[in-house]
Amino acid sequence: MLIKPVIATALSLLLPFSASITYAQASKHQPAIVDYTTRNHPVIGREGMVSSQNFIATEIGAEILKQGGNAIDSAVAVGLALAVTLPRAGNIGGGGFMLVYIADENRTIALDFRETAPLLADKDMFFEIDQNGKKVKASREDYHFSYRSSAVPGTVAGFDWLLKNYGTMSWKQVAAPAIKLAKDGFIVSDDLASILRTKHKTLAKHPSTRKIFIKPDGSGYQAGDTLVQKDLAWSLEQLAKGGADAFYQGAIAKRIAADMQKNNGLISLADLAKYRVAVRKPISGTYGDATINAMPAPSSGGTHVVQMLNILENFDLEKMGQNSAAAYHLITEAMKLAYADRSKYLGDPDFVDIPTDILTSKAYAKDLAKSISLTNATAASEIAPGNLAPYESDETTHYSVMDKDGNAVANTYTLMFSFGSGVVIEGTGIIMNNNLGNFTLSPDIPDAFGLMGSADNLIRPGRRPVSSMTPTIVTKNGKPFLLTGSPGGSKIISTVMQQILNVLAFDMNLADATDAPRIHHQWSPDALNLEPGISPDTIKILEAMGHNTKTSKTMGSLQSIMYKDGLFFGYSDTRRPGAKTIGLN
Ligand code: DON
Repeated sequence: MLIKPVIATALSLLLPFSASITYAQASKHQPAIVDYTTRNHPVIGREGMVSSQNFIATEIGAEILKQGGNAIDSAVAVGLALAVTLPRAGNIGGGGFMLVYIADENRTIALDFRETAPLLADKDMFFEIDQNGKKVKASREDYHFSYRSSAVPGTVAGFDWLLKNYGTMSWKQVAAPAIKLAKDGFIVSDDLASILRTKHKTLAKHPSTRKIFIKPDGSGYQAGDTLVQKDLAWSLEQLAKGGADAFYQGAIAKRIAADMQKNNGLISLADLAKYRVAVRKPISGTYGDATINAMPAPSSGGTHVVQMLNILENFDLEKMGQNSAAAYHLITEAMKLAYADRSKYLGDPDFVDIPTDILTSKAYAKDLAKSISLTNATAASEIAPGNLAPYESDETTHYSVMDKDGNAVANTYTLMFSFGSGVVIEGTGIIMNNNLGNFTLSPDIPDAFGLMGSADNLIRPGRRPVSSMTPTIVTKNGKPFLLTGSPGGSKIISTVMQQILNVLAFDMNLADATDAPRIHHQWSPDALNLEPGISPDTIKILEAMGHNTKTSKTMGSLQSIMYKDGLFFGYSDTRRPGAKTIGLN
């Protein structure tokens, strides 16, 4: 149980009136609630907090907490609501990873509800033979936008496990708000209208998808229209009545298997019945006095966030300054080293051995740190061919929830691309993922995000593809201090790592930490991606050091919560409109 923040709150309230303590001193030694030396300010709460990429889903999560539900109940309700209101990423037809802190047990759980390859999948399924008899990669339509592109969804099993083991509410209670939204509809925002327009072609391809996301006259939904999803309401009602069994064995399973069979898809009743979540031991690392608890394989996120922090701990970043060329240089070099290892060592731990202990060890990181020059960029030599996929937007989503008792859920889940495969299973309103695209087709072919992989990540029945999703809970003295996570494909790992650095190494508040421009280098290709907002002078210094810089669009969408001095501080990334953090008071 977290101690109620009465004393800390009372003290901080007095601070502005204290003649002897300045704000600057207060922020260093005895934090004021509002620190006027900073430009951006987190949301503050005392009784719990919800931070998600969609304001309607956040409001639902906060309402569940107000009704007496715990963080687990709230997180499931948010996840189901996002499947309705953020259909490009929120889902029940995808999968993901959750870090969960259970206060009563003082235990952090890494819940893997990643999709698995169907029983009929095989490593050559996305190759075909061309006219010259040569084995070539299948068309993009087949690889990413077909019934065949989907892996067996894990989201419902993940929510079910969580609710059954640690929830206080029933499926009926947590699904009720999402059912209402799907049945009655909700007002389309500019953000949703805009993404529906961008994805018009994909959404128009399959009749079962077209009838939901495109109007009968063929025109697109506009901001202010109401989007009703009756079939999705039916599916959510099945969950309310039957929980995960409805999805994996009952009425929903039957519709998925039938539609898959009709359209050359692979997912069968046997696949659905066989799906299981995996409860894994979190990756654990340290940075200063903080412990980083993050997702182990098959996500690469936790391993490489810890690896990069371990490398960077060998340098005095704080002295260099958060937005200095010197710090950006070192962070870039750490990224290159970590992403190079990612391409070789990561896979599904249920199928292959992964040297996690070495990758996350301080000794290995120290040696890697020694290899970094303080003045020159190291060329990412022997780079396998690869390109950051220029074609898809970043549409996974993350949300964080904490309740007044200290329970915490950090969930990142995905359909992979925006609206996944673009396939809606007839009669269910469920958008299917295209996460088979995260497998490695061959070690010399980059995945859908330009990432290289090894033979350990080839498609095999039942195998989970390597992921970059990085829900993270940083603890101090054993209690949650920071919950964070982000979408962004390959950039998720670097985005989350920079958030942790901004808070732990640069002592920034959550709002400033989130808003600070981000950088990304994934070793292959050898390009340092820079968000807008980094000074041209800094870029010149980086180029003089030998970095191959490239201005990129924004990276990620962090939804974070910090618990400090008896208060919840939260912040929704401004890079995505419509996100919201609510603090309960
Ligand atoms: O698991 C992964 O790494 C990807 N499927 C995540 C996809 C993603 O983040 C899409 N864009 N944000």
